[in-house]
Amino acid sequence: MGDSNIEKLQEIVDRSRRLVFFGGAGVSTESGIPDFRSKDGLYNQKYKFPPEYMLSHSCFVDRTEDFYEFYRDKILAYEAKPNAAHLFLAELEKTGRLSAVVTQNIDGLHQAAGSKRVFELHGSVHRNYCTRCGKFFDLAAVKAQTGVPHCPCGGVIKPDVVLYGEGLDDDTVTGAIKAIAEADAMIIAGTSLTVYPAAGLIRYFRGRDLVVINLGDAGDVPGALFIHQKVGETLGQIKIK
Ligand code: OAD
Repeated sequence: MGDSNIEKLQEIVDRSRRLVFFGGAGVSTESGIPDFRSKDGLYNQKYKFPPEYMLSHSCFVDRTEDFYEFYRDKILAYEAKPNAAHLFLAELEKTGRLSAVVTQNIDGLHQAAGSKRVFELHGSVHRNYCTRCGKFFDLAAVKAQTGVPHCPCGGVIKPDVVLYGEGLDDDTVTGAIKAIAEADAMIIAGTSLTVYPAAGLIRYFRGRDLVVINLGDAGDVPGALFIHQKVGETLGQIKIK
């Protein structure tokens, strides 16, 4: 990378007072979790059904056993730890200059790093609930069972994850939009910006400094400083002053 890009990013981080981070699956690849659309991503592997179907509301309802087989094998399989990107953001939040992390990821790694204000647009594997009585369960409770996990009441437990065919949580979207609209700087990282409505939220940004950190293509983000490098490696070089 041109060191000049790191210097420019350092200047942006130094002068921002309300930075917002908007991330996707590429933020967790350096923690060992594959993304969706890269060459080695989840969507370029072969399954019984297309992955979009395996992660859909219809699959959960109509083929619950197949859903959980895929979910356990491909989504819950990783004992991942936060990487330099997650840790940088948690440290920046402590200074009061990072207003929020908005993420499409469901892995909970921002919170594991210590981030407090995280808008999880697609939910979290760490929250699960009974579709019959509403009782909540943590991830350990789901992992403790095999196949389709059940509540003591007999109901099927569902992950609090936004599946294809389901809507996003209103409060999460409203909070994310407010954080983005009030930000003076935004870093968009590790996302192909192809999944809506999540990707559309970046349009609410009205601030001065916009940065995209992405190994591959991240669509057209006019006016952004584009850093074509790994997000963990990049943010790991930025000093928090
Ligand atoms: P994608 O897999 O579509 O995009 C990940 C992007 O991150 C790609 O552009 C990669 O080039 C880039 N990338 C990978 N590793 C990186 C790294 N270390 N540093 C920088 N860039 C890196 O993932 P998302 O955009 O998050 O939704 O996908 C959005 C949604 O699609 C997901 O939330 C999920 C999926 O279907 C649901 O499951 C509802």
